[in-house]
Amino acid sequence: MSESESIYGPYRPVLEKVQSYLMDEISMVRQNVSRENGYDPVEHCPTRIKGEDSMREKCRRQNIPETTYSALETIHDAIGIRIVCAFLNDVYLFRDHLVSLPDTEIVQEKDYIRHAKPNGYRSYHLILKIHTPGGLVNDVDQKPHVYAEIQLRTISMDTWAALEHHLKYKKNISGSNQELIVEELKRCADELASTDVSMQTIRDMIHEL
Ligand code: GTP
Ligand code: MG
Repeated sequence: MSESESIYGPYRPVLEKVQSYLMDEISMVRQNVSRENGYDPVEHCPTRIKGEDSMREKCRRQNIPETTYSALETIHDAIGIRIVCAFLNDVYLFRDHLVSLPDTEIVQEKDYIRHAKPNGYRSYHLILKIHTPGGLVNDVDQKPHVYAEIQLRTISMDTWAALEHHLKYKKNISGSNQELIVEELKRCADELASTDVSMQTIRDMIHEL
């Protein structure tokens, strides 16, 4: 494949189609909750098709060839969506809706909310396989499909992840200071998690009135 050719080959339109389909489904749930409960359950919902350079870099990092097959079959986050929810329960509401979509299989599901990473990171990660005409056909199954990675989290979790990401790429953090920073970050994550539970309780109390 030449450098100037897209790593996605002829598949970019199908990636975009599935991305809009998923975003439409998310909008629908959002509207239903707004209508029934009087608030928008989504704070924000960024989405992207992974950039060419970033996809090629990921292939190199994983020691796999920079091919369309790698980008669509081996790597599963060509489509990425992050649903940042107001409340904890909303995360699971969106999760339940997405996994029950027709022609959709769960490839991987990681509940880093119930099981936080050791550093304090929390989020619900889903990798979905969506069967769709125009998608890639792999060597094993003959049904055309594409994958999408969906991260679901609350505003608090998103705030923490953004800050932690920031700090991770700051150099000059060394020695015993490093340990203290990691420990403090973990403490903040745990405090935010307990605040999320309290906020959910408050919301439920208001809803009962
Ligand atoms: P990748 O090779 O990055 O896809 O990791 P993985 O396949 O082991 O998946 P994992 O579920 O651990 O993480 C996938 C994505 O979640 C990352 O690309 C980040 O966006 C996010 N993420 C995971 N762990 C952390 C973390 O400790 N801090 C932050 N800020 N983000 C994280
Ligand atoms: Mg991943």
